Amino acid sequence: MPKIVVLPGDGIGQEIIPEALKVLKNVISQKQEFTFQEYAIGGTAIDKFGKALPEETLKACQEADAVLMGSIGGPKWDTLPAMERPELGALLPLRKKLNLFANIRPVKIIPALLSASTLKEEVVKNVDLVVLRELTGGIYFGEKGRNTQPPAAYDVLVYTEEEVRRIVELGFQTAQGRKKRLCSVDKANVLESSRFWREITEDVAKNYPDVELTHMYVDNAAMQLVRYPEQFDVIVTENMFGDILTDLASMLGGSIGMLSSASMAGKKGLYEPAHGSAPDIAGQNKANPLATILSAAMMLRYTFDMNEEAERIEKAVIKVLNQGYRTADLASSTEKAIGTKEMGDAVVAALS
Ligand code: IPM
Ligand code: MG
Repeated sequence: MPKIVVLPGDGIGQEIIPEALKVLKNVISQKQEFTFQEYAIGGTAIDKFGKALPEETLKACQEADAVLMGSIGGPKWDTLPAMERPELGALLPLRKKLNLFANIRPVKIIPALLSASTLKEEVVKNVDLVVLRELTGGIYFGEKGRNTQPPAAYDVLVYTEEEVRRIVELGFQTAQGRKKRLCSVDKANVLESSRFWREITEDVAKNYPDVELTHMYVDNAAMQLVRYPEQFDVIVTENMFGDILTDLASMLGGSIGMLSSASMAGKKGLYEPAHGSAPDIAGQNKANPLATILSAAMMLRYTFDMNEEAERIEKAVIKVLNQGYRTADLASSTEKAIGTKEMGDAVVAALS
């Protein structure tokens, strides 16, 4: 029986996950038997078990076929020592221990949301890109520390050849299934790790002559993403550049509340919205559950090969947006916003 582990986490995670589960259970009900098991992670786990990533949670995730996560973190746990906080104490070790090296974040414009973008319609209307972010290496995972004399701090950015090769290969394969254009983003004019990344990318490219490869510096990529985003098909990049560029790219689609995310190790995946726990609106039924609902669709597609069901969810999301349903992050000053639950209900209703 396929096993899905559910990690609501902190803040709005507790509100968006039930909506995604509602949609997911509705879509798969007739098909297959899935088990859903919920575990604690992040601040919620610190409060309950004294640890951001309890053994039990980790073990369940290791044994699962897929993990559906909400979001973690919040001001309540910000004062803890760095390595105990939800981010460094739970999310990063979870990514590392499950070997989830490939993070997929697609940005495709939904016409009904064109006016929600802060950019001009003609700039964003044809955007259909995917960012492939390396997720278990680079500066997030290199040595970090402090010196006392003189006072200093450091985070080391290191990549092994194997780490670069496997993500870049996936980049080429992803491009092959799309418009066959791969843009590798780096900072090779300054960083040795980027020159290394570029060399390996050029080498991998020999096996994919049908894909057009370009290289772009990360500062230029940030500028190009708002200047002429249509030029991109697949972007492959290292961990921190990918973190920054995906937040930026999410706004092309109108809101970070729409950006879904899959972190993969083969068929196994952790699926979560790209946004955070939004403590400012937590517990108020205001959060947009669509990124999580769309992440659940990615789960059906990537882990369970249930393309038809994934499409049903994606179509239902488009339908509710066409019908004019908006959560607060998407609503203009003249549009009426609905709540998290109401949005979830609308998607379920749109499935049939
Ligand atoms: C993301 C988030 C995380 C990251 C944080 C919460 C550690 O911003 O998934 O993009 O930096 O990877
Ligand atoms: Mg981020």
